[in-house]
Parts: sequence; C-alpha cells; structure tokens
Amino acid sequence: MDTAAQAAVSKAQEAVDNIDVAPGLEELEMGAARLTVDDKQMINCRADLNQLVPFKYDWAWQKYLDGCANHWMPQEVNMTADVALWKDPNGLTEDERRIVMRSLGYFSTADSLVANNLVLAIYRLITNPECRQYLLRQAFEEAIHTHAYQYCVESLGMDEGEVFNMYRELPSIAKKAAWSLSHTHALSDPNFHTGTPETDQELLRNLIAFYAVTEGIFFYCGFTQILSMGRRNKMTGVAEQFQYILRDESMHLNFGIDVINQIKLENPHLWTEQFQQEIIQMILEGTQLEIEYARDTMPRGVLGMNAAMMEEYLKFIANRRLTQIGLKEEYPGTTNPFPWMSEIMDLKKEKNFFETRVIEYQTGGALSWD
Ligand SMILES: [Fe+2]
Ligand SMILES: [Fe+2]
Repeated sequence: MDTAAQAAVSKAQEAVDNIDVAPGLEELEMGAARLTVDDKQMINCRADLNQLVPFKYDWAWQKYLDGCANHWMPQEVNMTADVALWKDPNGLTEDERRIVMRSLGYFSTADSLVANNLVLAIYRLITNPECRQYLLRQAFEEAIHTHAYQYCVESLGMDEGEVFNMYRELPSIAKKAAWSLSHTHALSDPNFHTGTPETDQELLRNLIAFYAVTEGIFFYCGFTQILSMGRRNKMTGVAEQFQYILRDESMHLNFGIDVINQIKLENPHLWTEQFQQEIIQMILEGTQLEIEYARDTMPRGVLGMNAAMMEEYLKFIANRRLTQIGLKEEYPGTTNPFPWMSEIMDLKKEKNFFETRVIEYQTGGALSWD
C-alpha cells in the first residue's frame, strides 16, 4: 500500500472511531426505553420510526402483504389483438377511439401525480412505520401503473407527445390534474410541518383529495369505460391492464380511508363542523369534475353507456366516499347502474375476468451465483 492509500485508510478509521451514536441522529436515543405499541401514532409521533415492529396498525401491514401477493407487470399482458384492432381503420368507432385516447391521456400522468404526492408530500408526514411500508409498496405500484400506460401507448403506436400532454392541453383532463396538484402544493414545501390543528387539517385535506377524490372518484369514469370495452371483447389487452390497476387502486383507496379514519380517531379535535363542510365541498367538486369528464368523453351513447348513466354512477360512488369517512350521503337515492364494476373489483386473481394467464408472484425466481 502506498502512503496516499494508507493515509486514506487511516482517515476512514478515524471517522469510524469518532462516530457518536448517541446524538448522531436526533431520532436515535441510546439507552431509552424500548418502543411499545402505545408509543405509535399516525401523525406527529415522536417515537422511533426506524422500527417496524411491534405493529400497532395490523391492517396496514396486512395491506402491504396483500399488495405484494397481487404483484404483476405490464409486459405479461398480451397486446397483439389490441394492436390489430387499433390499426384497423374499421376496428373501432370514433367514439370508442376517443375513450381509449382520453383514458390513456388522463391516466398516463395521473399516476405520476399520485406517486409524487406520496413520496414528496405524504410519506414524511405519516409517522408510522407499518403505514410507511405500505406507502412504499403503493409508490412502486404507481410506478407500475405509469409503466402500464406507457406500454399501451407504445404498443398501439400512439403519438406519445399528444397523450402525455393531455393533462396540460385538454380542458376536461387538465382541470382534474390541476385540482389534484393544488392539494400537493402546501405539503411538498420542505418547510411544511404538521403539529398544529391547521397543518394537521391540511394533511387531512391532502389525504382526502388524493385517496377519496383522485383515486376514489377521478379514476372511475375511465376505468368503467375501458372495462366495458373489454367486456365487449374490444381492446382486451388494455382492459386487462386496467383491471389489474383497478384491483391495486381499490386497495390504495381502502388503505387511505383507514388512514384518514385513524387520524380522525386519534385527533378528534380536527374534525370540526366547519372542516366537515369543507371536505363535503371538496368531494362535490371532485364529483362535478368527473361528471364533466364523462360528458366530454361520451358526447353520445357508447359501449352500452352514456354520460347520464355515468353521472348516476359517480354520484353513487361519491356517496360511498362520503360515508366511508363518516359523512352523510349528498346524493340520496342514487343507485349503481354498473353493478358489474363491483364484481370485477372483488374478483380474486385466480378467477381472472378475461381468463388470460395470471402469473403468481408468491415465490421469487432462484438466484444464480455464477
Ligand atoms: Fe395507480
Ligand atoms: Fe393508486
């Protein structure tokens, strides 16, 4: 070893000797009492966040396990029939083509908005390791969804500039995207911290805007349209991608609802009458935006549905979202015109709707050491 190398090793040794484990990281407290479940909280928790166990929120860990068991990748779906149908000038009607384009236009960027919100806004503010474990799984699933839309756009040979810019250029899509983005803004500021009623409420607004409205309402017109297409044996590859995504999304939604309700339970002072009114208003706005999107994407009846039926469905969904977070229905008396949607969401993977091969990810591939 030459002198320069020896000096570098000595310098490394010196740095290691000087590591002060006690105050090194503010969160690490040497010799403090061990973590118990009672120390854990959804927000503003001061206990050690580097220790996953003991679990307090078993439902969060269970959803992480369920998410992993549902793993899938976009390239596993056969797109051959879709490519042939899309390229055939008489394959789809103008109205059907519009639905495919608009769906890919909205979703190709929407899942990035959700992923960015998770990683840049929500993650650091949810102070619970088992929930963070699920958030990391969800973030990867959002990456897979964006991958799936990109894969559809590429397989079908679409103009990617047109598709990926719709969220800035096409009003019915741009309005939804802008609405979601407006709720990321405050929280993604690195100087934003929870800990006061006002900032804690701001976090709740974000969670409701993303889980209950963006993933809970904004996805439903497009999902219903594409799955209806698949049921009619058209664009079955795209429809299968959407079916997998919908299965993931219903879990994201349920996780978000559980987080919101848990925060309410632990911090009842945040759920004031005035705040509830504000949340109802947000959900009504989201519903209205999605109704406008339905009208824009379905100027006429198509695939056995029309904008008026979709409006009824969206109001039915909005009622669900309201009651899931403990608010009353705003559209009493609405019914579900698409009961087959709930059947699809409840399907287990062994009973795949389109009866194509489903790859099991319960065991990983073997490692080779050469
Ligand atoms: Fe997604
Ligand atoms: Fe999602």
